[in-house]
Amino acid sequence: MVNTLDVSFVEKGPWKPDIFKGKVVLVTGGSGTICRVQTEAMVLFGAQAAVVSRNKAKTIATAEELTQLSSYGHVLPLGGVDVRNFGQLQKAVMETVEHFGRIDYVIAGAAGNFIADFAHLSPNAFKSVIDIDLLGSFNTVKACFRELVKTKGSVVFVSATLHYSGVPFQSHVGAAKAGIDALSNALAVELGPLGIRCNCIAPGPIAGTEGMKRLLPAELESKAAEQIPLQRMGTTKDIAECTVYLFSSASSFINGTAIAVDGGAWHIGSTF
Ligand code: HXC
Repeated sequence: MVNTLDVSFVEKGPWKPDIFKGKVVLVTGGSGTICRVQTEAMVLFGAQAAVVSRNKAKTIATAEELTQLSSYGHVLPLGGVDVRNFGQLQKAVMETVEHFGRIDYVIAGAAGNFIADFAHLSPNAFKSVIDIDLLGSFNTVKACFRELVKTKGSVVFVSATLHYSGVPFQSHVGAAKAGIDALSNALAVELGPLGIRCNCIAPGPIAGTEGMKRLLPAELESKAAEQIPLQRMGTTKDIAECTVYLFSSASSFINGTAIAVDGGAWHIGSTF
């Protein structure tokens, strides 16, 4: 995978350059498509980043590519970390703080998905997705909590829109993402007084993502786009823009919400 954003994202966009200068973001799932572009955006706007993922080789490659976008040093690869393992996350947080001195922002995005009908979804398969998505999100924020208290930081969870309705063959993911929304809402209320904001981004149909590859065959994309109120598939840049917004001071009173980046698709019952 290669970087999808470049300096034009900063130069031609609505945000000031360097808005995240001196800030540090920790991203789980940073070598996947969605979280990766979120990291690209943060790095382009001056943040330093630690990419936390399971696959070591992929994490190193991602960090090397992201470093090319950074004017403030290299992106830290923390591979071999499974978000289901709290101890591994604690170690990743320790290494991030040793390296960069702080954590301001957290993107909890590590996720797992596959299509499976209920009859063939084993208890362990259901548990695996709940553990990666929901428990993993909890573990991530829990491990970063002390650092977020110090910096009055901000958390963005990567959710989805598929639990806004009933999507067949996705009961495991729908349940996990609904749980993530609930976790975010509760933490927004509980941690708000500490100055920590928690919000969700709920990507809809974003072209070229790992999730879309698993859910929608490429040849059906243009048909799907016709049904979306804004008449197009989403882009990774749409996710990047929303991420920058949610970590910027422009959203300083936004807490405990989920922003659907889906062109309005879920309002017509089109959830992905
Ligand atoms: C049915 C399946 C299955 C499938 C795995 N399982 N794949 N069941 N259909 N296609 C079952 C296994 O048989 C096993 O159950 C259980 O799930 C755990 O499988 P493992 O392979 O042992 O688990 P693990 O190695 O931890 O892998 C987790 C995983 C895998 C989720 C199954 O796909 C993974 O690691 N994915 C990470 C990458 C990924 O999915 N990215 C997509 C993110 S996109 P048994 O009973 O046999 O033990 C995304 C978007 C969501 O999340 C929103 C979309 C709109």
